[in-house]
Amino acid sequence: MSGFKIVGLSGGLSAPSRTRSLVDLVTLRIAQAAAAADLSNTVELIDIAALEEIGHLRARPGSAAVEAALQAVEGADFLVAGSPVYKGSYSGLFKHFIDFLDYRGLIGLPVALLATGGSDRHALAIEHQLRPLFAFFQAQPLGTGIFFTERDFADGVVAPGAPEQRLDQLVSEAVRALGARSRHRLAEATAA
Ligand SMILES: Cc1cc2nc3c(=O)[nH]c(=O)nc-3n(C[C@H](O)[C@H](O)[C@H](O)COP(=O)(O)O)c2cc1C
Repeated sequence: MSGFKIVGLSGGLSAPSRTRSLVDLVTLRIAQAAAAADLSNTVELIDIAALEEIGHLRARPGSAAVEAALQAVEGADFLVAGSPVYKGSYSGLFKHFIDFLDYRGLIGLPVALLATGGSDRHALAIEHQLRPLFAFFQAQPLGTGIFFTERDFADGVVAPGAPEQRLDQLVSEAVRALGARSRHRLAEATAA
């Protein structure tokens, strides 16, 4: 049976981007933990701000880079989705990319929800902004999300000592979700 495709998607606009750093870290941790649980996988990391002609996207197909990224998300077995909090919600760039996904493309997809912000006051943006967005797609976000602020980063990357317990909790939920997907695949293959 072929491996699982784990896709990290960052909607940060800065360079370096804290959001991207968090998305990369979480995606690679999930991939490592999944591999250790015999769930073979490949990883793709998408930085929306770096996609050529993302600003010109009005309809599909977009540029080759944008189209490849949209298809990678639609074809993922697990999505790690992260955005900076802008004015209490996800960034406009993040939503611009999401707007062009096929509305049927994420049904049943397990998703890890991540956000970075300047203040703990907006930690619930994960619950009242990101979670409903993925509910529209009938995706299956993990129960645990991660919201990090500046104190969790040093020089733009996740600092040692950032809340490890929360990371571990999210990673173990992700591996459980991939394990369930693996059993589902096996049942489908056996029934075919
Ligand atoms: C235009 C703009 C709006 C922002 N609005 C908020 C906000 O409403 N709440 C918050 O906690 N942080 C806000 N921030 C801070 C960013 O969310 C924070 O610095 C984030 O970690 C940046 O991520 P990045 O490094 O990936 O760009 C805002 C930053 C910018 C530039």
